[in-house]
Amino acid sequence: MSVIGVLTAGGDCPGLNAVIRGVVARALKNGPHEVVGIMNGWEGLMENDIRSLDRDDVRGILATGGTILGTSRRDPYVHGDGYASVRETLKRNDIDTLIVIGGEGSLQTALKLADDGARIVGVPKTIDNDIAGTDFTFGFDTAVQIASEAIDRLTTTAESHNRVILCEVMGRTKGWIALYAGLASGADAILIPEVPVCLEEVAKIIRRRHRHGCKYSMVVVAEGVEPPQKMDLATDIFGFERLGGVTYHIAPKLEELTGFETRVAVLGHLQRGGTPTAFDRVLATRLGSKAADLATAGESRVMVALRGTEILPVPLEEACAEGRGVNPDLYEVATTFFD
Ligand code: F6P
Repeated sequence: MSVIGVLTAGGDCPGLNAVIRGVVARALKNGPHEVVGIMNGWEGLMENDIRSLDRDDVRGILATGGTILGTSRRDPYVHGDGYASVRETLKRNDIDTLIVIGGEGSLQTALKLADDGARIVGVPKTIDNDIAGTDFTFGFDTAVQIASEAIDRLTTTAESHNRVILCEVMGRTKGWIALYAGLASGADAILIPEVPVCLEEVAKIIRRRHRHGCKYSMVVVAEGVEPPQKMDLATDIFGFERLGGVTYHIAPKLEELTGFETRVAVLGHLQRGGTPTAFDRVLATRLGSKAADLATAGESRVMVALRGTEILPVPLEEACAEGRGVNPDLYEVATTFFD
């Protein structure tokens, strides 16, 4: 018999509830274990904000967006005394293993706690798909689906008005969402942080298209591309720039270079809200179940990962390596259609 704690930390992501459901149902099936939910990410661990989770608590949440546990950007090593600020809660609730569903930053915090003596199983979470050690993160497929649908809609209005539209998607410093959504919707150019942006080249593609009779051009832009001029961005509590809005600086330059009216649509948090796709529901369920298997078997310092078609444990250190950028071969395929 062991007690498993589960928390969701950092930005939310479609599929979090499916992971929580997977953890709870599987842990309870594996034996006389107990699962407790830690409220609002690391904050609940610092403030002993805990609730018990039984099978009935996680019925009906597979398809819901957000997280029933809440989340926050507070961190024990930034806002507390590290392990000391969570030790009391772990002890008071007899928590043997903590399942941390989080992105790069939260998994780094989890690794520090493991170094300091906590038993940890990580579950990689982010719409950005940039975590090392796993082929895909849950939430990414949903974000791509939402972005692709938006781009399809923007394309028809662009065509009616003979406009260029720049659709800005999330992804932090990596271009996964932009590349996949751009490929899925037949974008005429895709700008990502991994490839230096040349606006003259983009303008050339647009001018050529319009010369050949095309009545619109659709450019997908990752929020993390280098801005054409310095932007004043606010920073989050970890000192990372809060991205968003780079297309407002790119659009006037492109308009000047092409002579075509150029508009902007920034999708923002739309990409993180609402129900996960079927792919993400399945992936999240498998990740949650595997995390519970590892936790009830007494494993620690591992992250569950999708490798090919299998869900496998990988060392937590691997997940904390530098963020994973897009595959250059895939970008090269996308360039075939920049015409
Ligand atoms: O990491 C996920 C993500 O959605 C990024 O794509 C985006 O830059 C960031 O989080 C936004 O964070 P917040 O919701 O705190 O503004």
